[in-house]
Amino acid sequence: MATLETDIGGVHLELPGMVASGIMDETGHSMVRMFECGAGAVVSKSVGSVPKGGHANPCFMEVAGGYVNAMGLPNPGIDLFKEEMDVAVPHGKVIGSIYGASPEEFSHLAGKMEDYGATAIELNLSCPHAKGYGMEVGTDPKMVGSIVSAVKGSVSIPVWAKLTPNTHILPEIGRAVQDAGGDAVVAINTLKAMVISPEFARPIMSNKFCGLSGSAVKPVGVRAVYDLRSVLDIPIIGVGGISTWRDAAEYIMAGASAFQVGSAIGTDGVDVFKRINDGLLAFMEEYGYDSITSMVGAAHE
Ligand SMILES: Cc1cc2nc3c(=O)[nH]c(=O)nc-3n(C[C@H](O)[C@H](O)[C@H](O)COP(=O)(O)O)c2cc1C
Repeated sequence: MATLETDIGGVHLELPGMVASGIMDETGHSMVRMFECGAGAVVSKSVGSVPKGGHANPCFMEVAGGYVNAMGLPNPGIDLFKEEMDVAVPHGKVIGSIYGASPEEFSHLAGKMEDYGATAIELNLSCPHAKGYGMEVGTDPKMVGSIVSAVKGSVSIPVWAKLTPNTHILPEIGRAVQDAGGDAVVAINTLKAMVISPEFARPIMSNKFCGLSGSAVKPVGVRAVYDLRSVLDIPIIGVGGISTWRDAAEYIMAGASAFQVGSAIGTDGVDVFKRINDGLLAFMEEYGYDSITSMVGAAHE
């Protein structure tokens, strides 16, 4: 009998699919709902030091193959987020996603998430539409190394770094995470994008730039995970355009030990995890894979 259990960067999961940061994880109750729908863990919405309103509308729309968003990291700030963690943590594993502008700020936020009962920390080093954060810190390997090593020095739970696809030096950034003691990397965040209204002759998003997610980005994510697997020893978590068991299997065979699902919760509904889990298990049994581990990186061999 095959098993869906997996181990990634110091975390054991009964089920390999997690809710990706930013979708159905802004509140404690939505996180609990996702545990009930077959998510092995939930990554929280990325939280910063102070409350943040995010960008003005329009900041989200459907496009062919997915969504674009320029939410601008709206969140209540780390102190108020304790209320959401108090609701969710007794029901399952919550990975605390945080963003900041300096190693000190990341360390402070990680310490709070650990106090609130997070199972691991996910460092958002990759948002393409939040000025001063995300991609702006996450495309400099030196800065990435300093953030990871500062956070590793201030918490005792595992630390994962979520990377951007919007760079040509992704393997170098992955190595910076590994060299600084990071426990896992997560790839990918959204692809930097833009949509224009011909009638108004202007970008539609109030922020002009946005991030593309959904099935359109899957081949980019699979390639990113494959590249990272070629240079890293630490585990990789795959995310980007997963909505079926086949998508999840592609990421695992590229090198991911677990995966996250975001946009497909919107396009396919909250049962998406159950469908992926059932399909993956049936595939593994038919093709003789007894565990997720036995499939990880299979496409490299
Ligand atoms: C509406 C929305 C909000 C998001 N917010 C965050 C966030 O706060 N932090 C983060 O690291 N990623 C965020 N993301 C990126 C997702 O976690 C994920 O990396 C990306 O959407 C690709 O996965 P998907 O194609 O399954 O959605 C967001 C994505 C969407 C669509």
